[in-house]
Amino acid sequence: MSSEPLLSLENLSAHYVSQQGSRVVRAVDEVTLSLSAGGTLGIVGESGSGKSTLALTILRLLPPAARIVSGRMMFEGENLLDKSDTEMRHVRGKRIAMILQDPMASLNPLFSIGNQVGEPVRVHEGASRANAWKRAVGLLKAVRIASPETRVTQFPHEMSGGMRQRIVGAIGISCEPRLLIADEPTTSLDLTIQAQYLNLLRDLQREHGLALIFITHNLGIVAKMCDQLAVMYAGRVVEQGPVSQIFSAPVHPYTKALLGSIPRMTDNRDHLTAIEGQPPDLASLPPGCAFAPRCAMAFARCRVEAPPEFAVDEGRTARCWLAAPDAEAKATMMRSSVA
Ligand SMILES: Nc1ncnc2c1ncn2[C@@H]1O[C@H](COP(=O)(O)OP(=O)(O)O)[C@@H](O)[C@H]1O
Ligand SMILES: [Mg+2]
Repeated sequence: MSSEPLLSLENLSAHYVSQQGSRVVRAVDEVTLSLSAGGTLGIVGESGSGKSTLALTILRLLPPAARIVSGRMMFEGENLLDKSDTEMRHVRGKRIAMILQDPMASLNPLFSIGNQVGEPVRVHEGASRANAWKRAVGLLKAVRIASPETRVTQFPHEMSGGMRQRIVGAIGISCEPRLLIADEPTTSLDLTIQAQYLNLLRDLQREHGLALIFITHNLGIVAKMCDQLAVMYAGRVVEQGPVSQIFSAPVHPYTKALLGSIPRMTDNRDHLTAIEGQPPDLASLPPGCAFAPRCAMAFARCRVEAPPEFAVDEGRTARCWLAAPDAEAKATMMRSSVA
């Protein structure tokens, strides 16, 4: 645990700002997270909690309306926020790659599979057309696509959904990145294909020593894939730590609520919306803890003062007054609850 993490986000905040500047959506708010080389971090949270914005922030691919307002993003010892756009283009694809939710959106219908799978190798490694084509064949083999020599000559519409997802995966690993970010990569797949794809990602991770950030709605997938977990609520990480510890003893009431409806691996429904109430508008957050209006355990203090990140155990934190370590804080909380 003493070795330096591959990626470490420190108090990272990214907001969407309306043109007049009157509406500020705090999509990523003071996020502190780290991931070691070869590790797998799951990020879960309801729709709109900031997961995709966090992924786009790491890649510095935010739309023009967004601003990274504070923090640091250390990756292999360098702050990605200090990099120029040109330097970031070299980081993307080559050292950090991303797999998007919808494979069709990442594939160009007009170009052959071989062309698209080989492109990052040409761009980042200066490979010749012929060599890139050979690499494409090898990469299709690596993602377990049969008859890769034929498949490279075909086009996206000639592939099944599962195959397209594998091809996007092949593009992701084409330059042997150190970190792969997968944003809900299985949502569009049926269950059998989904399970196969997850096995494939795990194999690739083992074979290539990749670190993986896995964004998902599905806690069954987290259990299968991840060793670390970050739970996001309203742009903030409200609980994080080793998956096994969080699953066996969740601290934050939001995490408890999520785990109360833990799906089986074969269950593909969106359980995270099963919690009563609505997530807050990120442009007008309530004072105090953003989860307080939905929280069965909330005390008066929770409604006036946002909890800081408390250390719960080694490598575990929670943003909840219930996790306050000192008796005094708890006593204050209790007092304010009767007041
Ligand atoms: N391009 C955008 N402009 C303005 N607000 C956005 C934009 N994209 C996302 N948001 C807002 O940012 C918040 C977080 O969204 P997102 O990161 O997509 O969450 P998730 O991936 O967890 O569903 C939401 O409130 C969403 O409405
Ligand atoms: Mg998303």
